[in-house]
Amino acid sequence: MTRLMYGLALSLAFFLSSSALAQMNPAPANPDLRPVLEDFGGEAGLTDLMDDFMEIMLENPQLRPFFVNTNQDRVKRQLVEQFCVILGGDCAYTGRSMRDSHAHLNIDRADFNALVEDLQIAMNRQGIPFRSQNKLLAELAPMYREIITQ
Ligand code: HEM
Repeated sequence: MTRLMYGLALSLAFFLSSSALAQMNPAPANPDLRPVLEDFGGEAGLTDLMDDFMEIMLENPQLRPFFVNTNQDRVKRQLVEQFCVILGGDCAYTGRSMRDSHAHLNIDRADFNALVEDLQIAMNRQGIPFRSQNKLLAELAPMYREIITQ
């Protein structure tokens, strides 16, 4: 009987970790990327970057509808926290999972690509070295699976 319970518990654990219920960590800390965070100008640099990024997205007809009625200050703050943690900074991410925060938005691949392009424009304007830009983008890329829903 105990063995049966144990077996059931194991299969349940396997099911939960392999099913759609399992979600990625939205802010996996990567201490090796600390030098990249320095290139971004630390947390203050990320804050400037997000101000630019949000302005650029609000001028983009493809992305404006997504952000115009959101609490933009909150989204920018969450992004600063998320990127800071990912780049090995001494920060904490207090936002929601990528799936929970985007599920209701009907985001497709073209929307995702448009957002990445605007992030690249913002990073170029902030003078972030190309190599460091790519290090960050490589960390964000796998998140598309939880963000794109159509
Ligand atoms: C790798 C790509 C992306 C990352 C890392 C990212 C990250 C985030 C984060 C951290 C938040 C705040 C979570 C929270 O409120 O707790 C957020 C919210 C949001 N994101 Fe994204 N996002 C990405 C892609 C996109 C795309 C492609 C779109 C639409 C084109 C989008 C639209 C939004 C909107 C509208 C919100 C606010 C939702 C709300 O207030 O309910 N995001 N995102």
